[in-house]
Amino acid sequence: MEETYSYLKKVIELTFTQNVWRTAKSINLIASENVMSPLALKVYLSDFMFRYAEGKPFKRYYQGTKYIDELEVMTNELIGKLLDVNLVDIRPISGTIANASVFRVLAEPGDSAVIAPVQAGAHVSHTKFGTLGALSIKQIEMPYDEENMNVDVDKAVKLIEEVKPKFAVLGGSVYLFPHPVKEIADAIHSVGGYLHYDAAHVLGLIMGKRWHNPLKLGADVLTASTHKTFPGPQGGVIASVNEKIFKQISKTIFPWFISNHHLHRIPATAVTALEMMKFGEAYADQIVRNAKKLAESLASLGFKVLGEHLGYTKSHQVLVDVRAQGGGAKAAKLLEDANIIVNKNLLPYDTPDKVKDPSGLRLGVQEVTRFGMKEDDMEEIAKFMKMVLIDKRDPAEVAKKVSEFRQEFRVVRYCFKEEDLENVNLPGTSTLLDLLK
Ligand SMILES: Cc1ncc(COP(=O)(O)O)c(C=O)c1O
Repeated sequence: MEETYSYLKKVIELTFTQNVWRTAKSINLIASENVMSPLALKVYLSDFMFRYAEGKPFKRYYQGTKYIDELEVMTNELIGKLLDVNLVDIRPISGTIANASVFRVLAEPGDSAVIAPVQAGAHVSHTKFGTLGALSIKQIEMPYDEENMNVDVDKAVKLIEEVKPKFAVLGGSVYLFPHPVKEIADAIHSVGGYLHYDAAHVLGLIMGKRWHNPLKLGADVLTASTHKTFPGPQGGVIASVNEKIFKQISKTIFPWFISNHHLHRIPATAVTALEMMKFGEAYADQIVRNAKKLAESLASLGFKVLGEHLGYTKSHQVLVDVRAQGGGAKAAKLLEDANIIVNKNLLPYDTPDKVKDPSGLRLGVQEVTRFGMKEDDMEEIAKFMKMVLIDKRDPAEVAKKVSEFRQEFRVVRYCFKEEDLENVNLPGTSTLLDLLK
């Protein structure tokens, strides 16, 4: 076969095999992922993906942007409604880019920032190894409270009063319980600094009213990804209650951190925001119920699940110590062979050199919840995990059972269905469904 065609064959095969494997055969428990609704996907695949719109809506450097201008303003408004704030910018193309834009405005190179401890979930972008370091902002970690699996509030307040950093960062990638927003906001404001909350993981839970809204508790600015518990297209967002900071960020994000902002994200984010308005509370409620149930089920089957004394979890995540099952790297690989997709993770007591083979697994239930799984199904997932990791059954044999189980959960829930759209009559004769044909 001509070489070009053999490459083409490979591209097509790998893409479609991935599609079937991850959306039809496996149980996805990666805490940072999700799937879009069919309607969001429909508007995602639009002409906007080929276009440019540098600058702000209605003040672009390009012609041909009148429709994206309107859509972008509307999307910012919809996200603002869900967060109950007025200042929103959807242009960051990822959570990391959103963080970079905020960090760079809140501090100059050489200044200090105080971040949540890594054990309480700080993301790499908050650290000297990531975006903060790349911007030459000094990282100072808040002390960790082992008992509460959280920031040690008293010590952190003292530290902030001593160091007087330009800003503090809360929110993270691996956390089960809400960080102490009010206390840290009061402390950082008392020394003239700002509080930045990274809601990449919990944006959907905040909008669904199952997680506190940090912007109501003293945080000045919030960043997030738009594709984790908020189940939109991959992208980022910034929201704020502080006009001065927000103005600076929106003035500088282009051209400092983005040029074009990948426009096809915008209508898909708007559809997802509308779905969150209609279905977000039920969705977020089921997520936190499922996470708790998964934790309880795993514990009852013999796994060491973190946070028992605190009720295991209040987020979409569950942390499991799998040292007794061979460690995080081995456990994650065995589960993958059984079509259960998780990530290995450092646990609060792991030293950083354990990063390649940490003690734990991080599990997130937001995607399986979206496919309609409820508490009983969490028990089934826990049993599959036990078969692989405790009973040492052949992963290939378990993979077949997992695929069969998955067949019942192929339809995305908590989103607009065709029947809904058929019944919405627009002025004139068409329905919303007709518009999509
Ligand atoms: C807390 C936190 N912030 C930022 C990010 C980065 O987001 P993105 O992948 O959208 O750049 C992540 C990614 O998982 C995260 O967990």
